Amino acid sequence: MAVFFQKSPLHCLDVWTFNGNKATIWVKRDDLIHPTVQGNKWRKLKYNLENAQNQGSKTLLTFGGAFSNHLYAVAAAGQLFDFQTIAIVRGEKILPLNPTLQFAQAAGMQLHFVSRSDYRMLSNQSLEFILNFINLSLSKVYLLPEGGTNDLALRGCSEIIAEIKTQLDFTPDVYAVAVGTGGTFAGMLSGMTDADTHCKAIGYAVLKGNFLEQTVQNLLNQQKVQPTCAWTIENAYHLGGYAKINAALLQFKENFEQKYGFELDYVYTSKLFYGIFQDLQQGKFPPNSHIIAMHTGGLQGNLGFSQKIQKKQ
Ligand SMILES: Cc1ncc(COP(=O)(O)O)c(C=O)c1O
Repeated sequence: MAVFFQKSPLHCLDVWTFNGNKATIWVKRDDLIHPTVQGNKWRKLKYNLENAQNQGSKTLLTFGGAFSNHLYAVAAAGQLFDFQTIAIVRGEKILPLNPTLQFAQAAGMQLHFVSRSDYRMLSNQSLEFILNFINLSLSKVYLLPEGGTNDLALRGCSEIIAEIKTQLDFTPDVYAVAVGTGGTFAGMLSGMTDADTHCKAIGYAVLKGNFLEQTVQNLLNQQKVQPTCAWTIENAYHLGGYAKINAALLQFKENFEQKYGFELDYVYTSKLFYGIFQDLQQGKFPPNSHIIAMHTGGLQGNLGFSQKIQKKQ
């Protein structure tokens, strides 16, 4: 790709001792990959952008909700790598646009707002059907699914594991990441090698419904991947569902940011770290564990999210 993105840093966040149990927490700062195409979004887009370029596509078309990190990143990537971008946005248009959509529009993304039922229907349709539905006649359009999860996205995320291995001179015991569509976690699982057989990978669900284990398994089956390490989905910290928060999470986020000096997003990484710290207190990790926590970015969403919180107060 024309723009070179740096390897993200791996920091030792803290050495934790509780009731005689010690753990070292590391944070893989994918939020620092790039100011606008950051976190798992860059991992997921990397090979898709390359593929789109190789296919001679000039336009990226994708789906997302009004606060979507994915839409924001696609709009930014379009600008950086010279693609037109089109988004099918779930729900009615609300003016003024929220900060995510303002950014996307300013970056040149065409926004098409559709009802929730049309959105669901369109997500399973062919590109031709979608373009007809929004009255566009364009050729060489590259379709990216909601959340950006597809085969090439998993390939990009699989590289996280090898990258961590170049940064640590030992193999960690636990990998932890927030899970929405499951693509990042499944990609990481597909990057595990024989050196990881003693490891445990934990996906912290940000959606309720206990269905994410099956979702991740389906993605692994599609890739014909059998992870070399044990893995599980932790469903205890979604706090009632996607983007649902409570006072304890807000307090945790504030304390964390003050203590460690970097920001978390409300929807994914706050719940991940909240879950990890709760699990540490409950002694759920083996003694002397080295835990890698993925900072998957999403910081663009904080402005719109805090505006929403303020309106509710
Ligand atoms: C910041 C952030 N972290 C984690 C995730 C979860 O990733 P996935 O949808 O691949 O499970 C997302 C959603 O894509 C996200 O935007």
